[in-house]
Amino acid sequence: MRKVQFTETVLRDANQSLIATRLPYSKFEPILETMDKAGFYSAEVWGGATFDVCLRYLQEDPWDRLRKIRAKMPNTKLQMLLRGQNILGYKHYPDDVVRKFVEYSVKNGIDIIRIFDALNDVRNLEVAIDETNKQGAHASGTICFTTSPVHTLEKNVQMVKDLKSMGVQSICIKDMAGIMGPKEAYDLSAAIKDAVPELPLVIHTHCTTGLAFMTCLKAVEAGADVLDTAISPMSGGTAQPATETLAYALRHLGYEVDLDDKVLIKMADFFKGVRADFLKDGTLDPISMATDTQCLNYQIPGGMLSNLISQLKMMNAIDKLDEALAETPKVRADLGYPPLVTPTSQMVGSQAVQNVLAGERYKVVGKEIKAYCRGEYGRTPAPIDPDIQKKILGDTPLVEGRFADSLEPEFEKTKKELAGVAKSDEDVLSYIAFPQVAMAFFKDREAGFPKKEAPKAAAPAPKKAEPAPLPTWQGHVYYANVPAPVISGYTARPIEPFAATYQPPHLVMGNREDCTGTFTVTIDGKPYQVSVEKADGPAAPVAAAPVAAAPVAAAPVAAPVAAPAPAAAPAPAAAPAHAAAPAAVSAGETAVNSPMPGNVFKVECKVGQQVNAGDVLVVLEAMKMEIEVSAPVAGTVKSVSATVGSTVNTDDLLVVLG
Ligand code: CO
Repeated sequence: MRKVQFTETVLRDANQSLIATRLPYSKFEPILETMDKAGFYSAEVWGGATFDVCLRYLQEDPWDRLRKIRAKMPNTKLQMLLRGQNILGYKHYPDDVVRKFVEYSVKNGIDIIRIFDALNDVRNLEVAIDETNKQGAHASGTICFTTSPVHTLEKNVQMVKDLKSMGVQSICIKDMAGIMGPKEAYDLSAAIKDAVPELPLVIHTHCTTGLAFMTCLKAVEAGADVLDTAISPMSGGTAQPATETLAYALRHLGYEVDLDDKVLIKMADFFKGVRADFLKDGTLDPISMATDTQCLNYQIPGGMLSNLISQLKMMNAIDKLDEALAETPKVRADLGYPPLVTPTSQMVGSQAVQNVLAGERYKVVGKEIKAYCRGEYGRTPAPIDPDIQKKILGDTPLVEGRFADSLEPEFEKTKKELAGVAKSDEDVLSYIAFPQVAMAFFKDREAGFPKKEAPKAAAPAPKKAEPAPLPTWQGHVYYANVPAPVISGYTARPIEPFAATYQPPHLVMGNREDCTGTFTVTIDGKPYQVSVEKADGPAAPVAAAPVAAAPVAAAPVAAPVAAPAPAAAPAPAAAPAHAAAPAAVSAGETAVNSPMPGNVFKVECKVGQQVNAGDVLVVLEAMKMEIEVSAPVAGTVKSVSATVGSTVNTDDLLVVLG
């Protein structure tokens, strides 16, 4: 009787695919000791987006999370997902950083590292595999499954042989989009088992298109040894097929399955509660749980689909979803058929969104796409469309050879720079992976995560009858979901992206003319009294009262608050009107506006500075990408409205050139 084993993904991939990785440690801690007894081949608990989300949204140290899971699950192999030379981010890191990251992952409790490269360029896997072996952990070499005119069975088998010679201990077929059908799974699994029979073969897929159960069964028939599954309440849709269902079916078919059914029942009961909570607060969108066969055409991975939906919602452009989905395969073909997996999935997805929202293809291009076109991410499966490459790159030279070879070691240097701030080597790695987010996290941690504390103003009422004044919040106000008329006591949930770096927090309120009056909003448990007036004039409030210069708590009550022209403008939210230049710009001046909603990541110009056409003025962070906003004409910088960390909407004024 042949044995089939299971990797449980509920804490990583199912969490990431269904609820954008928002599961905090405290919420799943009670089930860990039970999970440890289920008999899983491994539990995938770390890597992927968990790291970023812990730091950015959950106020959790990801390393600490890993250590805690390790302590509660001593008998189960803990697994993580690593993007080869990209580690967990979207760019290439130097080899010393890759090695340190692997070393500390293993030191903190990881047993199996599944290592992949978005382009299946094995040169990008070499260092991570080598270091995993040096650390005594298990390196699982991964093929990103995709279909295209250039992806053939022979090519995949050749890659498996390359991986074996690099020293991997297992092979994983990673079908991140749920597009691998039963026949493809059978043929590919059989070919791989034929080429490297001694290596366990793991199948990773998603239920997005509804193929997953059939795909898993046929892969097992062809010799696959391990299946990635998720406990039933967190399975299906953009996540993995259900653990219990596959265990049941495989046993009936005569395979040996060493899972403890009683434990699985306890886990399922527990995660039913978790699912209910996330459905209730809107984090779990029922769309993500449905079967969507369009993905067979669009090849959108689970995590990417739920991200695309939430990003478009944030831009008030969810009606553009179909258009963005249709644009995605076109962008992919232009870029040489990269498999769609992080980071290429984000890059292709956000480029498709930008092509649709900007009304012109490749008018707005993220920094990452530029780097990709230069060859920084590795060899593309097919050549990039030369005309598009030219439009994106201009005269920028291409990269020769392996990009990481050109990178200077970074770890020790960064460690010195962070002396006094980083408390450990793990902190240094967090910082290297996500500098801004990690720095904000360190500051919050130093301050005891102040945003989560009960606000002083909310303490029991003072002796006098007069209630204590609430702190006044000044800022750029626009929020799509505030009902009108706004009344006191409304609690608003900040819209993503909302990082701790913003001081004061930017409540997003707008797209309605009638959001005026005085009211109280609660942000992260802190009430702020806010008065909002209609803006008659130009974008003065934003420019005149830059956030950084007006700390929240300092001001007494009832200071006039933002009602910034751009955001409060009642233009139809879904159709970014690029024509409207803010009134603040006089004749002869040029307004440089935000091409899309996002956060100001860097301001690269100063008032008085001479700039040439094409010089980068501001860098935005949008859709997890860095978007450079360049000067359309040469001139002098007259004013800079953009402040680092602030939220901007489409057509918000960033810089005025004269
Ligand atoms: Co996945």
